[in-house]
Amino acid sequence: MCGIVGYTGYRDVVSVLLKGLTNLEYRGYDSAGMAIRDGEDIKIFKTLGKLINLKNELESHRSEINNPVMGIGHIRWATHGSPSLVNAHPHTCSCGKLVVVHNGIIENYKELREQLIKKGCKFRSQTDTETIAHLIADEYSLCKNLETAVRNSVKKLQGAYAVCVIHKDVPDVIVGARKHAPMLIGIGEGENFIASDTPAIIEYTKKTVYLEDNEIAVVTKDNVKVTDINGNIVKKKVEILPWEPAALSKLGYKHFMLKEIHEQPDVIRNVLNGKLYDIDEPVELKEVNIDKNILKNLNKIQIIACGTSLHAALAGKYLIEEFSGISTEVEASSEYIYRRTTTDSSTLVIGVSQSGETADTITAIKQAKEKNAHVLIITNRPDSNMARLADSLIHVNAGIEVSVAATKSYTAQLISFYLLAIHLAEIKGFKDSKYLKGLKHELIQLPIKIEGILSDTSGIQKCARKFSSYKNFIYIARGINLATAYEGALKLKEISYINATGYPAGELKHGPIAMLDETMPVLSILIPGGITYEKVLSNSEEAKARNAKLIALTSIDDKNLESLFDFILRIPPVSEILSPVIACVPLQLLAYYIAEFLGKDVDQPRNLAKSVTVE
Ligand code: F6R
Repeated sequence: MCGIVGYTGYRDVVSVLLKGLTNLEYRGYDSAGMAIRDGEDIKIFKTLGKLINLKNELESHRSEINNPVMGIGHIRWATHGSPSLVNAHPHTCSCGKLVVVHNGIIENYKELREQLIKKGCKFRSQTDTETIAHLIADEYSLCKNLETAVRNSVKKLQGAYAVCVIHKDVPDVIVGARKHAPMLIGIGEGENFIASDTPAIIEYTKKTVYLEDNEIAVVTKDNVKVTDINGNIVKKKVEILPWEPAALSKLGYKHFMLKEIHEQPDVIRNVLNGKLYDIDEPVELKEVNIDKNILKNLNKIQIIACGTSLHAALAGKYLIEEFSGISTEVEASSEYIYRRTTTDSSTLVIGVSQSGETADTITAIKQAKEKNAHVLIITNRPDSNMARLADSLIHVNAGIEVSVAATKSYTAQLISFYLLAIHLAEIKGFKDSKYLKGLKHELIQLPIKIEGILSDTSGIQKCARKFSSYKNFIYIARGINLATAYEGALKLKEISYINATGYPAGELKHGPIAMLDETMPVLSILIPGGITYEKVLSNSEEAKARNAKLIALTSIDDKNLESLFDFILRIPPVSEILSPVIACVPLQLLAYYIAEFLGKDVDQPRNLAKSVTVE
């Protein structure tokens, strides 16, 4: 959700903070703000809406900032209090000397607020964050030490926080603290950074220290000190970030989403690299630390995830059951948390998350761990909180995904599930080795097939133009491509705001068919040679009989289809079992071009944020 960046050093503070916030803008974009230490003063700038407004505001006040030495910045995705200027961060104590930016949610803020009001604190906003500012200022008035004041205050906070604090009377120091929200420090020469995520600092340094829950960092330009909640020094490991700054550039594409869609062939190669050497060799998943005998006798797998990752999980369930016969459940993390689950020490629980920071999935994983399940995390962020909870980890290796709508991380998650399912099949001896060899061979060919789709998108653009004025869509499929239908519909609704729903094709006649008429396009996923082809075709005919406009996503070149469908999106021939990897690409592009034609903000759709760190 929100993004935080802090800087102290020799560079132009405003530029460093703006750059950091730009690279975090995918985390939230309701409002933005910055506090700059300028000589003796702390100057605060806040604007509503996207970061460009803060940039313009700072530009017009540039001449008033004479000697900036450090600062903290924030980009907000509103949770407590509407997106308004008064609720935008940074927040200050009553006298304005102590300044705070915060990511997370303070659950007991109302009680704390009442206590502080009784002590005379003047509140201006509806945010939980302002409570933190008053609380630390109150502690500071007693101990006169900013680090101690932060430590004493965070002990009183319940909930999740990553906070950065500066004080007018404590020059050159930024104090950071975290619990259940990510925070890291970037180490430089004569400069240091603090941020909620790596993109904020990657342009300046790759040396990073990750704070753990309940740790407090005191950051000056020449030093970083980390202590635990009791004030004991913690020796931290400096890690080197695996990302390149180029990952944060659009490299000539109009949007990050388009760039990331085009990166998918290489992403697949990356995921396969080091895990699938040769079709005659077994798949190697070194990071899966489960005893082979335990894996062999496993009788239940539960996969938990949210959003797009949940759709990858649905395809994963299909693959695992097909290749290993192990009964597999899939559940939205937010549902898993609030029911009596049958998870126990003989269950393998798989958490899937691009960001590794999704609050619902983290909570669900913690619950699974409490029940002694082995937890395998499939994530794009091996540096995330979720990865730190993992007993086994599969790094999907998609590179930084900036567009809020997930694309390449979905493909990478799918490929990871193919590898995991083949690995289970090989351990259990569940599938014929000739079949698995053929599958591996086709898996290796997938990037070339996707390159074929990406080399000519004119058909997809034509389809997008033809259908961009429709207000509702239905996507239908059966079997493993049900995940594709759900994901294709999600992509369309999140970036174009068109109402799109995925249904199992067989369910159409059990209700949704009532909605069909000439205003409702139905997109059918038809994989020739597959076990679902004929049935999806007859479900499409049922839709045609109700005057729905029909779009087919298929590889078949058949005159009969041309008379049934109003538009055909072509994909290269592919086996049904592997088709989700191919079929998702034109659907991502269809959503992209429809949103583009409608003039929507493709990379930062309204109301969304890239990593959802609140439940
Ligand atoms: C959709 C999208 C979201 C995320 C969901 C889970 O394009 O990006 O639906 O998939 O918020 O996020 P992660 O995978 O980071 O746990």
